[in-house]
Amino acid sequence: MKEVLCDSVDFHLLGIQKFILKESLVSNIVIIGTQWGDEGKGKIVDLLAEFADAVVRFQGGNNAGHTMVVDGEQFISHLVPSGILQNKTCYIGNGMVVDPEVLLEEIDYLLTKGIAAGPDQLRISERAHLIMPYHKAIDHAREKMKGDKKIGTTGRGIGPCYEDKANRRGMRFVELLDPDIFSESIKSILDEKNFYLKNYFSSEPSDPDQIIKQYSKYAERLAPYVTNISVELHQAMGSGQQILFEGAQGTHLDIDHGTYPYVTSSNTVSGNACAGAGVGPVALTDIIGIVKAYTTRVGRGPFPSELFDDTGDRIQKKGAEFGATTGRRRRCGWLDTVILRNAVRLNSLTGFVITKLDVLGGFETLNICTAYEYEGNILHDFPANLNILAKCSPVYESLPGWSEDISGIRKMEHLPENTKKYISRIEELIGVPVCIVSVGPGRDETIIVKNPFVSG
Ligand code: GDP
Ligand code: IMO
Ligand code: MG
Repeated sequence: MKEVLCDSVDFHLLGIQKFILKESLVSNIVIIGTQWGDEGKGKIVDLLAEFADAVVRFQGGNNAGHTMVVDGEQFISHLVPSGILQNKTCYIGNGMVVDPEVLLEEIDYLLTKGIAAGPDQLRISERAHLIMPYHKAIDHAREKMKGDKKIGTTGRGIGPCYEDKANRRGMRFVELLDPDIFSESIKSILDEKNFYLKNYFSSEPSDPDQIIKQYSKYAERLAPYVTNISVELHQAMGSGQQILFEGAQGTHLDIDHGTYPYVTSSNTVSGNACAGAGVGPVALTDIIGIVKAYTTRVGRGPFPSELFDDTGDRIQKKGAEFGATTGRRRRCGWLDTVILRNAVRLNSLTGFVITKLDVLGGFETLNICTAYEYEGNILHDFPANLNILAKCSPVYESLPGWSEDISGIRKMEHLPENTKKYISRIEELIGVPVCIVSVGPGRDETIIVKNPFVSG
């Protein structure tokens, strides 16, 4: 009887939600990286969170590093959604993999900065998976053993944790909060993990009692945050609240659609916003892709428009292209619209944000990759075969650059003509309109062309 009642309440809420969406009174927006990560998602989520009621991260873990700069102060978040600085309810989705130690450090850091990050602001899905010490140990040992063939992972245990989720040997928050299930499962899992660590990698085994002791402390602190976020989001949407879904990594690091195996271990495309947060696809109204004005990549894997010359170094230095998580130097290259068109199709992008446009100031000529050439043939679509991709050379179209410093500009019409031409050529090549132009790391260093949260 209780269940039937619950169902009818849910149907009622869904009805309201559909009505509101149809009438365009609310927007639920997904922010997606279109390239290989580090496009500036954190800045844009922080900016747009002002117009949302809640922000949800739906995949990945602390492999992500999202940077926000507010009033000159820099914040980097690895797990907590970037909406936290705007004092919005933030959700850690079931699709995420969470290192509880890192999460607690991040919560403490925010609290010391006077930012509200208690259980009223931050909600964690009971179904999100936990990164365990053996996941990190396996990630490191595997990369070391692979030598030259390594992926260049962030070493945070992301892949091994998602592996355990898929093979049904994972630990979720719901298990963490049940001490009996937790200790029983950990002992049986460690039988296998320790055999693997000791005999295959010649690495140190994990001690079950130590893990139980350490994780029970995390459980005590995190218990008040843990909830069924699907139910909470559904209620929020039912009452007309607007939700912002924060993607991590980028489309070309997606486990299915990226440069496999040089990818991360989750689906980074917009479709996973639903599965990773526990909402259905009709809830989404707009999908906004974040496009860095040039291309970067951390870690290994093919990158057709990569520059190995002074221009690449110049972009790297001017853009301060160092990873926000591992501090690694990011590889840099010209803008690649083959991958952007791929991102438009894979994510159903309704608009895009161009970031770091200020970094391109001072280059006499700017190149845009419009296609690839492979053994005399022109390819317009992104090949799945990495040997082919590695041999693709970019086909460039050249545009004149601009010499002005654009970081102080706040209106589209005040941008230099060549900057406007660069943006409109990208719009033409990818078939999607620009909605925001970012000209500096600060929240205010932004030109809003069309706010996706404001209709009309
Ligand atoms: P994310 O992972 O997509 O959130 O991006 P990261 O934070 O890893 O990397 C983006 C970097 O570029 C950060 O250091 C941001 O502060 C910075 N950034 C973002 N937008 C702009 C911009 O428009 N101009 C400049 N110069 N820096 C920006
Ligand atoms: P944000 O959200 C850039 C890359 C790693 C490596 C590959 C696999 O800040 O854009 P993993 O540790 O996930 O198994 O590593 O994915 N990678 C990222 N590159 N930005 C990220 O996140 C990344 N997260 C993972 O460098 O090549
Ligand atoms: Mg980043």
